[in-house]
Amino acid sequence: MTKFTIAFKLSAVLAACATCFTVQAAEPLKIGLVLPMSGPFSAYGKQIEHGARLYLQQSGGSFSGRKVELIIKDDTGVAPEISKRAAQELVVKDKVDILAGFGLTPSAFAVAPLATEAKKPMIVMNAATSAITTKSEYILRVSHTLPQVTAPIATWAAKNNIKKVYTLVADYGPGQDAEAQFKKTFTVAGGEVVGEVRTPVKNPDFAPFLQKIKDAKPQAVFLFVPPGEQTIAFTKGFAERDLAKAGIRIIATGDLTGEDVIDGVGDNALGIVNSMQYSEAHNSPENKAYVAAYYKAYPKDRPDFMSVSGYDGMQLIAKTLEKTGGDATGDKFMAAAKGLAWISPRGPISIDPQTRDIVQTIYIRKVEKVAGKLQNVEFESQANVKDPGKL
Ligand code: PHB
Repeated sequence: MTKFTIAFKLSAVLAACATCFTVQAAEPLKIGLVLPMSGPFSAYGKQIEHGARLYLQQSGGSFSGRKVELIIKDDTGVAPEISKRAAQELVVKDKVDILAGFGLTPSAFAVAPLATEAKKPMIVMNAATSAITTKSEYILRVSHTLPQVTAPIATWAAKNNIKKVYTLVADYGPGQDAEAQFKKTFTVAGGEVVGEVRTPVKNPDFAPFLQKIKDAKPQAVFLFVPPGEQTIAFTKGFAERDLAKAGIRIIATGDLTGEDVIDGVGDNALGIVNSMQYSEAHNSPENKAYVAAYYKAYPKDRPDFMSVSGYDGMQLIAKTLEKTGGDATGDKFMAAAKGLAWISPRGPISIDPQTRDIVQTIYIRKVEKVAGKLQNVEFESQANVKDPGKL
């Protein structure tokens, strides 16, 4: 072999290696989002996508040197078979590194076994039934759980002279969790649940339930329904049937009064006291920057808690990859994500290393008009709230 061929071979090897390294470093990071982009819950998909894209845009389109590709699949809402198929396609055909999204509980439950089988991190950006994170070791949640946001409003009610409450919840995971937690916390604090009803998840007719509640004469009704058309229908019926005039008030989790839906509810929302992790009106530098960036990117929409979960879900991925040096393989990713903490637009948050669920401040808020706009005005808070559903 001549000197020339040795040198040539050596440089060829080096060149091949250099490309192999750059190819690896530049390997795009594929994130598959399973979201309701159509149907009655399409606003969830829109909000989560908005938040996710905003974080990505602010990060210059890549995390730890890997260009991020978002692939969105519409699961249409409460349709577990469609969610499952969408996630399967994302894993098998699109070869995503990470599964994310999940607007509603049935969608998260349907995909959990797949995350385990494929060893893919699964970031839950809204679905809020407590048990979801127990269904796979690969699940992390950045939104909330119903018990986590329900306990503080139950405590607040009992402390503020509300002693008799009727509960109305949608008859599926998050509604059942909310009902159970409300009853537990409220009765321990000296309150009494004088009646409870569960309504269908799809297209409920609230009229007969509203009449029953009126006849039972509680001081308040505690409510959880999946927000959107149902919030508007319930509050409209509540006003039309004069429940407010009969001295009954509405208390709820802040799912009910999210900024995406509150203008549709209109003045019927005024005075609703509720508990939640995010308000557009939250007074912090991080939230002011978030709200300004959101309106700049999406002038026609108001940012709500779902958009913040989309944003923080992407933030969780970015921060985890910083720790792993860009490695998104399931086990390394999960180990690095546990215990992460940062300041979100909603306030300080962290990932509980034991449960992989979110730990965060829960605020008690009242719906008021601020500069002509309906807002959730925070007036009390409880820091570092874990999901009581798992305690
Ligand atoms: C859910 O289906 O888990 C769900 C939907 C809407 C919410 C909260 C939870 O606001």
